[in-house]
Amino acid sequence: MERSWLLEMKSNRVFSSLIPIQLVMRVFRFLLLTLMVLISLSRDTNGQSFYHEQYRPQIHFSPREHWTNDPNGMVYYKGLYHLFFQYYPGSSVWGPMHWGHAVSKDLIHWKQLPIALYPDSLGFIFSGSAVVDTHNTSGLGSASNPPLVAIFTSHDPKKQRAHALDYENESIAYSLDGGMTWKKYAHNPVLKNPGITDFRDPKVFWFAAEKKWVMTLATRDRVTFYSSKNLTQWKRESDFGADRGAHGGVWECPDLFALQDHGKTVWVLIVNLNPGGPNKGSATQYFIGHFDGHHFITSQTETRWVDYGPDDYAGVTWNHTGSRKIFLGWMSNWLYANQVPTTRWRNAMTFPRELSIIHVGGVPYLASTPVPEIRLIEEKPWTASRVEVSGGLDLATLTAGVQFPCLLKISLEQAADLSVVLSNSKGEKVVIGYDPAAKQYFIDRRNSGKTDFQKDFSSLDTAPRISTSKDLSLTLIIDKSSVELFGDKGLTVMTELFFPNTPYEKIEIKSEEKRVVRQLEYVPLKSIW
Ligand code: FRU
Repeated sequence: MERSWLLEMKSNRVFSSLIPIQLVMRVFRFLLLTLMVLISLSRDTNGQSFYHEQYRPQIHFSPREHWTNDPNGMVYYKGLYHLFFQYYPGSSVWGPMHWGHAVSKDLIHWKQLPIALYPDSLGFIFSGSAVVDTHNTSGLGSASNPPLVAIFTSHDPKKQRAHALDYENESIAYSLDGGMTWKKYAHNPVLKNPGITDFRDPKVFWFAAEKKWVMTLATRDRVTFYSSKNLTQWKRESDFGADRGAHGGVWECPDLFALQDHGKTVWVLIVNLNPGGPNKGSATQYFIGHFDGHHFITSQTETRWVDYGPDDYAGVTWNHTGSRKIFLGWMSNWLYANQVPTTRWRNAMTFPRELSIIHVGGVPYLASTPVPEIRLIEEKPWTASRVEVSGGLDLATLTAGVQFPCLLKISLEQAADLSVVLSNSKGEKVVIGYDPAAKQYFIDRRNSGKTDFQKDFSSLDTAPRISTSKDLSLTLIIDKSSVELFGDKGLTVMTELFFPNTPYEKIEIKSEEKRVVRQLEYVPLKSIW
């Protein structure tokens, strides 16, 4: 009895110790299978892994495959930053536009989700915005489950081909599950074209003072403001810009928002322009002024650019981020976006930037700086004070090696000549620097590698220094095929692409005369993929 009891106990023991073994085996098999699926998903038929191709941005969002242009529908809701984007899933060149979709908890790491909006009988899904309809003004959700509403342009290519004027109209879609799935509104379009050939890119925000929605719409060579109590019926308020700003091309993707400036509210109107940018092609200009719910008024007479480089376009800001204003642009230019030498995917977004106002000589300017969340991918920084530079200083000799992507911060006691050279063993290079005689920042990519895929790509680009302060500071975000320069705490910004034949591996700091760099910081950045 005792024995059998013992045996039973034993066999139970054996049995119970068998369970974990079987379980472990099963879990192991399951993990192995998942791993194999993941590996096969992350590799194409040639075995090359996704997100690690030669020119693939490592710290910028790009779609896993195929074409993207403008960021769209950027909205923050329940802890997630939604990023929709102009997307053509059929190829790596522009085509019938969809809204692709990605989400992030921290603005840095992105997860691509299924396509949010597909073309329909009204046309392609062009650029637009998204809002949280907190008070359910649209009636598309409920008080307890407010809808997210996307407002976009329906672009009808058939009507356009037939030379009709009204081929662009504004439509909406809504989501009742926090932006994961979308339904088109049954009575689209909600704003009909009055006969203007370019009538697109609605950016909508809640104007709390009058409890109404305001839409900023690009209407050919100006912006038109509309308002609505319910997102479905829109009233024209006013026009701005026919006699202001740069007009080298068509106005696109506008955005209007308030920023705090020493306790006062200032209004910033962003207007994208293509072509006619300061360094050819596409670029983003801005106006600082006042908005009373009906009219935008500014005393600004000169043209100002959010980013002077050629590769930041169609940028707008996230909705519903409180007092923070976060800007994201498309990191390309319509001059060559369809020809840049990547095939599996084409184009990416800029690094997200936080906007603020900085005064120079009593005049308010818009400044952009990388969002502080960048710290999430920062590896151990290397810093030094009072570093002497004469001729060229190979950063790797100080830091024991450099890697891309990385962050580089340089401050000088005087706004003197200085350049940063990224290069490879083939002698291909990008030179980024400051020219004190011309009071200009510059980026020279004429000998950067592949440049002949389009005639305008090989360029020496410049940007005025806006700051008048004696000392100068530079922050560079360097990725596999891009550099973003933030001069003087973001008063002058330049974004540029490059495509070396073999990866850059060297960073040099150069100066014609002997200079002392007050503070030098090099920070390797971790890939987000
Ligand atoms: C800007 C733009 C928008 C338009 C979209 C089409 O880059 O031309 O005006 O909505 O791209 O993809």
